Amino acid sequence: MKGTIFIILLLVSLTISEKARYDNYRVFEISIETSQQLQLMEYIESNPDGYRFMEFPGKVGRNAELVVPPHKFAEFEELCSKFSLKSALLINNLQEVFDQEQPRSRRALPLDWTRYWTLEEIHSWMESIAAENSNASIISVGTSYEGRNILGLKLNIGNVSGKKQIIFEGTIHAREWISGATVTWMLNELLTSTDPEVQQLAATYEWIIVPVLNVDGFVYTWTNDRFWRKTRRPTANLLCRGADPNRNWDNNFNRGGSSSNPCSDLYAGDYPFSEPETKQFSEFIANLTNLVGYFDFHAYGQLLMLPYGFTTEILENYDELYEIGTIALESLSAKFGTQYRIGSIANIIYIASGSSLDWLKYEFKTNVTYAYELRDQGRYGFALPADQIIDTAIETFESIKTILKEAQIRGIA
Ligand SMILES: *[C@@H]1O[C@H](CO)[C@@H](O)[C@H](O)[C@H]1NC(C)=O
Ligand SMILES: *[C@@H]1O[C@H](CO)[C@@H](O)[C@H](O)[C@H]1NC(C)=O
Ligand SMILES: *[C@@H]1O[C@H](CO)[C@@H](O)[C@H](O)[C@H]1NC(C)=O
Ligand SMILES: *[C@@H]1O[C@H](CO)[C@@H](O)[C@H](O)[C@H]1NC(C)=O
Ligand SMILES: [Zn+2]
Repeated sequence: MKGTIFIILLLVSLTISEKARYDNYRVFEISIETSQQLQLMEYIESNPDGYRFMEFPGKVGRNAELVVPPHKFAEFEELCSKFSLKSALLINNLQEVFDQEQPRSRRALPLDWTRYWTLEEIHSWMESIAAENSNASIISVGTSYEGRNILGLKLNIGNVSGKKQIIFEGTIHAREWISGATVTWMLNELLTSTDPEVQQLAATYEWIIVPVLNVDGFVYTWTNDRFWRKTRRPTANLLCRGADPNRNWDNNFNRGGSSSNPCSDLYAGDYPFSEPETKQFSEFIANLTNLVGYFDFHAYGQLLMLPYGFTTEILENYDELYEIGTIALESLSAKFGTQYRIGSIANIIYIASGSSLDWLKYEFKTNVTYAYELRDQGRYGFALPADQIIDTAIETFESIKTILKEAQIRGIA
C-alpha cells in the first residue's frame, strides 16, 4: 500500500518536473598532473553529488573541465588546496551560456542554420526532403527505448544500385547539439550545392545520414536537462537512468574509459548493446553491403580521431588515415583558422572502450573511419552559440571533401 502511494507521488512529481537550471554554476579547467589528482577526479565522477564533468580527464597530463554548483564552491576550494589542483575559471555562470545558445527573438524563427532545431523539426525536415526529391528516402534505423523512431535520410542520386556507402552518425551523445546541426547542414549541401565538385561527390556514394541517433536523450536535453548525455533507459539503480551509448557497443565492452556505475555519465550499460538505439543501429549497419566510410560527430574539443579507443596500439590502416586526416585538417583550418588535433581515440583523449568507431573498424575493417569532436575548446562547450553552426559545418565539410578525395586517390574509398 505504502509502495503504491510512493509510486503515485513519484509519477505526479515526474509529470510536473521543470527544466534543470544552472544558475551560478561555474566551470573550472583543472590540469591533472598526478595520479592522486586523477583518482580524485575518478572519485568525483562516481560520487558526483552535484558536480558534473564537461570533460573527463581520463589520464594524467590532460585537463578536466568540471562543473561546480554554487553550494560546492567552498568545498571545491578546499579540494584545490588539499590536492594542489591548478584550476582556471572557464565559465562563471553556466545558465547564462545555455541562455545565449539560441538567438534571442520573440518571433517564430525560420528553419535554417542560425538556430538549433528540435527533434521534431529535424525529422519533418528530412521527411519533406524525401517527399520532394526522388533521390532521397527516409529510413528508420530503429526505435528508441521511449518508442521514438530513429530516422535517417538515404541519399542516392540517380538511384543507382551498388554504390559505395558512407554513414554520417550524429548526436549519439544527447547534449552535443552542434553534431546534429552540422550533419543536417552537410546533408543539405550534398543535395543542393551548385559546386560541381560537391555534386560529383554527392553522386558518387550512397549516403546514410542519421542526424540524431540518441533521440530520447536529445529530446530530454530540450525538455528537462540541457546537460544530459546518455540514453533514457532505466538501470538497476532506481535514481539513475541511461547508459553512455558510445560505450555500449559490443567491442571490448567496459574495458577502460567507461564505468560500471549506472549513475556515471560514462556508464557502459548493463551489457553490450543493452541500449535499443545502439543494438538496432548496429544491426542496420551490419546489413549494409558496401560500406566504405563512417563518420561520427561529437562535441567538443576540435579533434579528429581514428580507431582505436580500447587500445593505444596503432592498428589497421592508422598511418594512412592519419596522413589523410592531416591533409584534411589543413583544408579545415584554411576556412576560418580553426585548429584541430589528430590521433587515435586512446592516444588523443584516453582509453575509451565500446565506441561505435571501434566496433565498426574491428568488425568490418571499414576503410575510412573518423570521429570528430567539433567546436569549440571549452569557451562555450556543449552550448556553442547557434551563430557558429554554419561556420562549423562549412569547415567540417571541407575536411570531409578532402578526406574522400585523398581516400579515392589512395584507392580506399
Ligand atoms: C530506385 O530503384 C529501385 C529499383 O532499383 C526502385 O524500386 C525504387 O522505386 C527507385 N526509387 C526511386 C525513388 O526512384
Ligand atoms: C535527383 O533526381 C532527379 C530525377 O528524379 C533529378 O532531376 C535531380 O537533378 C537529381 N539530383 C538532385 C541533386 O536532386
Ligand atoms: C537485415 O537483413 C535481414 C535480411 O535481409 C532482414 O531480415 C533484417 O530485417 C535486416 N535488419 C535490419 C536492422 O535492417
Ligand atoms: C579498402 O582498401 C583496400 C586497400 O587497403 C582496397 O583494396 C579496397 O578496395 C578498399 N575497399 C573499398 C570498398 O574501396
Ligand atoms: Zn560525444
